[in-house]
Amino acid sequence: MSVVGIVPAAGRGERLGSDVPKAFVACAGRPLIEWSLDVLRAVCDRVVVAVPPGMSYPDSVEGGPVRSDSVRRALAAAPEATVAVVHDAARPFITRELVQRCIDVLGDGYDGAIAATPVVDTVKQVDEGQRVVRTLERSSLWAIQTPQVFMADVLRRALDVEESTLAAATDDASLVEAIGGSVRVVEAPPRNFKVTGPADLERAAQALRAS
Ligand code: CTP
Ligand code: MG
Repeated sequence: MSVVGIVPAAGRGERLGSDVPKAFVACAGRPLIEWSLDVLRAVCDRVVVAVPPGMSYPDSVEGGPVRSDSVRRALAAAPEATVAVVHDAARPFITRELVQRCIDVLGDGYDGAIAATPVVDTVKQVDEGQRVVRTLERSSLWAIQTPQVFMADVLRRALDVEESTLAAATDDASLVEAIGGSVRVVEAPPRNFKVTGPADLERAAQALRAS
């Protein structure tokens, strides 16, 4: 078994609005991505990072115009991978235990195991005029995060689709689901949030300094 970490880090971070790409912005004294790389390098045989065009970084490839394309390019650079651990550089609170639990679940017949937390808010579907259409049954809803761990050959097939399909995918598991793959959730600690805007970066920095 060859476990390869795949880290999409090629986004510009428009919502954060910093002058360097979000994955490389300083967070608690080091580039944001490095908090995740510490954990991934401890669990994986190798970690491939998709970086913005023009940036040099160890074991990296140039990312694509959309997130799942960046994942596809990084995975293409690791033909030896039998298990792919996909993790967004923007989530610095990944733990070894969480990755290991996802990997262990693959042996139970699943093609994918993805970090998630049960939804605690009531969730409603609304129309374009913001009128409530219906209230969803919360007990079956989970908010999906990364890491997302897959049998690598299944993920390769799932990513072998048109750019427009990659662009529409908000995570990689949805592409695996679309080709009939079996995916299950693995409950993540609540603090595994994604750095999106400036307030998230501050919150992450405080929590990382305190840890
Ligand atoms: N990502 C990537 N390639 C892209 C777009 C995103 O590798 N073309 C990566 C980002 O670097 C990030 C992860 O995917 O680690 C999740 O994306 P997101 O949080 O949306 O980051 P950005 O796209 O950088 O942020 P924004 O959408 O605000 O521009
Ligand atoms: Mg984005």
